[in-house]
Amino acid sequence: MENTKLTTPYFMINEDALLSNLEKARQLKALSGVKLVLALKCFSTWGVFDIMKPYLDGTTSSGPFEVKLGHETFGGETHAYSVGYSEDDVRQVADICDKMIFNSQSQLAAYRHLVDGKASIGLRLNPGVSYAGQDLANPARTFSRLGVQPEGIDADVMASIDGVMFHMNCENKDVDAFIGLLDAISNRFGHYLDALKWVSLGGGVFFTWPGYDIEKLAFALKAFAEKHQVQLYLEPGEAIITQTTDLVVTVVDIVENGMKTAIVDSATEAHRLDTLIYNEPASIGEADDNGEHEYVIGSCSCLAGDQFCVARFAQPLKIGQRLRILDSAGYTMVKLNWFNGLRMPTVYCQRSSGEIEKLNEFGYQDFKRSLSQWSIQ
Ligand SMILES: Cc1ncc(COP(=O)(O)O)c(C=O)c1O
Repeated sequence: MENTKLTTPYFMINEDALLSNLEKARQLKALSGVKLVLALKCFSTWGVFDIMKPYLDGTTSSGPFEVKLGHETFGGETHAYSVGYSEDDVRQVADICDKMIFNSQSQLAAYRHLVDGKASIGLRLNPGVSYAGQDLANPARTFSRLGVQPEGIDADVMASIDGVMFHMNCENKDVDAFIGLLDAISNRFGHYLDALKWVSLGGGVFFTWPGYDIEKLAFALKAFAEKHQVQLYLEPGEAIITQTTDLVVTVVDIVENGMKTAIVDSATEAHRLDTLIYNEPASIGEADDNGEHEYVIGSCSCLAGDQFCVARFAQPLKIGQRLRILDSAGYTMVKLNWFNGLRMPTVYCQRSSGEIEKLNEFGYQDFKRSLSQWSIQ
């Protein structure tokens, strides 16, 4: 079907763009020996996992259902991690994960008996150093609850586990800054790492960014793995799906109050939540920085400040016109919600052949079911 006939709003995942990122992942693996597990918290659209499987080693998770989804739909290695497990969670995932990573020594002490003999056991350590643009996303922020603080590490506990996970990067495009963190970890925790089988360095390493020196990253990872004799893992999310997906919307109205606002049939609060949470404006495919016509690209939700961005265009926008909100795969489809009872975007994949495949579609019944399934009598 032609794109112009598809009803908006919709996400369009581009297979060629995805493959281009995945080829970089393959190169990194080949040069470094690192294993890559996809962070499902960032992207869980399992309809395209068949494209991704040949390039990655498995999945990692942040909650019990993600473990199940990774096990069922991706396969390979399934890493289970949660900031806080209930006993039920542990019982449910112990049989289907390969590695179980606890966030604290108290959780490890409480539940390791449920995992012993089933999965390899690890602990998240907080290295106390990080690379993150915003405090909200900084795992080493003041009073962080994420991972065991260095001064609280119990050497006996370390001697009883197989591996550790550090996650301390957020969209880090600077290979030297990453290598600095790697050195800090090696210096501070090296004596523990030498006795482990595996170390995960988490996500947030933006090795697919144009111009990123993958070779330099790979050699640093290889040297680290050799020095400490461990199998290294990275947990990429955004790096794998960056620049692969547009959220396509239609201008439904244009209003003016000091500035022109084009209201589109989507909302950041419902369909692209991180635009709002991190206050990071989106980019529009049709925009032209030198254009004369400036618009707020406004959401159709009721939230006063809900807008995608301010953008300039060569020609005035028209009602009925479509716009592509670029780079809309990461932390979007996993966070879709029904706020305001808006129409949920359909999800498509444009295959390398040009063919468009529908992966998901939502209707009124999905909305209704998400609110109640039974009414009181
Ligand atoms: C523990 C852990 N691993 C991996 C990731 C994925 O990070 P990214 O999508 O930035 O690569 C995150 C993101 O928050 C995380 O918390």
